[in-house]
Amino acid sequence: MEMKSVDKLLEMKNISKSFSGVKVLHDVDFSLNKGEIIALCGENGAGKSTLVKILMGIYSKDSGQIFYKGEPIDHLTALDRFNMGMSMIHQEFNLVEQLSIYQNIFLGREIRKSNGFLDISAMAKKSAEVMAKLKETVPVTTPVKKLKVAQKQIVEIARAICFDCDIIVMDEPTAVLTDRETEILFDTVRELKKRGVAVIYISHRLAEIKQICDKVIILRDGNFVAEKNIDEVTEHQIASLMVGRELEDTAPRAFSGDPDDIALEVSNVSDELLKNVSFKARKGEVVGFGGLIGAGRTELMEYIFGLRKVKTGEIYINGKKTVCKSPVQAMFNGIGFATEDRKKSGIVPIRSINDNINYGYLLKKKGLFNNGRQMLENTSRMKQRMNLICRNASQLIKTLSGGNQQKVVLGKWLLIDSNILLLDEPTRGIDVGARAEIYQIINTMADEGKTIVIVSSDLPELLKVCPRIIVMYEGQVMGELEGENRTEENFMSLASGLKTV
Ligand SMILES: Nc1ncnc2c1ncn2[C@@H]1O[C@H](COP(=O)(O)OP(=O)(O)OP(=O)(O)O)[C@@H](O)[C@H]1O
Ligand SMILES: [Mg+2]
Repeated sequence: MEMKSVDKLLEMKNISKSFSGVKVLHDVDFSLNKGEIIALCGENGAGKSTLVKILMGIYSKDSGQIFYKGEPIDHLTALDRFNMGMSMIHQEFNLVEQLSIYQNIFLGREIRKSNGFLDISAMAKKSAEVMAKLKETVPVTTPVKKLKVAQKQIVEIARAICFDCDIIVMDEPTAVLTDRETEILFDTVRELKKRGVAVIYISHRLAEIKQICDKVIILRDGNFVAEKNIDEVTEHQIASLMVGRELEDTAPRAFSGDPDDIALEVSNVSDELLKNVSFKARKGEVVGFGGLIGAGRTELMEYIFGLRKVKTGEIYINGKKTVCKSPVQAMFNGIGFATEDRKKSGIVPIRSINDNINYGYLLKKKGLFNNGRQMLENTSRMKQRMNLICRNASQLIKTLSGGNQQKVVLGKWLLIDSNILLLDEPTRGIDVGARAEIYQIINTMADEGKTIVIVSSDLPELLKVCPRIIVMYEGQVMGELEGENRTEENFMSLASGLKTV
């Protein structure tokens, strides 16, 4: 037993926390040994991020104690804790868009020369080494704003592992990564473990947790529910512990509308990335777009929504040629777009739920005075429809959990009756329970005659919700999978550019 206590790196005891009078953590205990990889699981809003932010000194706790290597650290600031060897990969990117990759990695801990000036070459060199380890080759002088989401995530990871530390918290590190990038991260995690670094790993991807973690701790509604060795539990059992009930699987429902009733037709889209892309989606249909990151799926959606200029391309809505030169024009044509980068373009984080839900409504109603009561009524209707968990309409959207933020985004488009909804990675970072709810909402919208186009890098998700999957590779449509053809093997051969279906 004595031996054990030497290994004990961290102990959090009886941690409680409330936000504006609502208790979100109830006497939670958490401990971590050297070299241990612990998964922290729970539904959206269960309190995972809050707990680790308390650990890092970003949030203060209301009660409880934290011991690091046996010493209390409650009085220490976030910077102190960082200097003692605690590091975190944030769920919401914490990068300064205008600064370069290496400037971000060394932000607040710049290397200086003996004369006090910044040692740019040393910082750039070290950054390049860490990025290379993560197999990312983009120059470290590139401003972060020029990077794709996956690359931003890699910069976040690089920033956390660049410095020697004992504990690394990873809050949803793989939500935007491809399988290959995820494997590279896992190799890094295994290496860290060998060096005795402990990792707190937060993810909604239960398969990953089974693959990489030693133990799993489950929170539900801010309460500790269970701690299990990873070999003791199946993914299904983890999910059931998270939601506190048995989960049933959804299967995609066959398309039952009129096959000739084409709501959206996109034809011959070409530019430097997209190569002569055409597709059709029917009224009431849920169509999936699969492929690897970089296949051009997001760019295609951006074109439809008036965000991307292309060389050639035409859009027909209900058979009528339509021009969408801007998002506002697309919106007036009945198109809604939930972007993959929710924080950057899906929501206005520092505004209320009410403002966010009514965003399109107000744009559409321009000229008329804002009807506050109508707005609140809209919000309350969408809240009910989406089963949105929030305190009230004026709560800032950034304080909602990821799943609930996504429900606000869907509610915004539903409110203005968008007939065509483009959903880019709609369940990224969203827990199994809320995910099932969002699938339900998607199916209901399709039943109501809406056309839903889903871009997802999560193949099980596409198989679950889309009776028809269009697969892209390097800007081209490689093929479509429907019915019996919708297998993982067929998908992979199309997505990797081997045309065999
Ligand atoms: N800064 C804040 N102000 C007010 N409420 C907050 C704040 N941060 C979190 N909350 C609330 O605390 C609860 C726990 O949120 P937290 O972000 O810890 O959940 P989570 O388990 O990380 O969820 P997710 O899986 O969606 O990331 C939620 O109800 C959330 O709305
Ligand atoms: Mg979180």
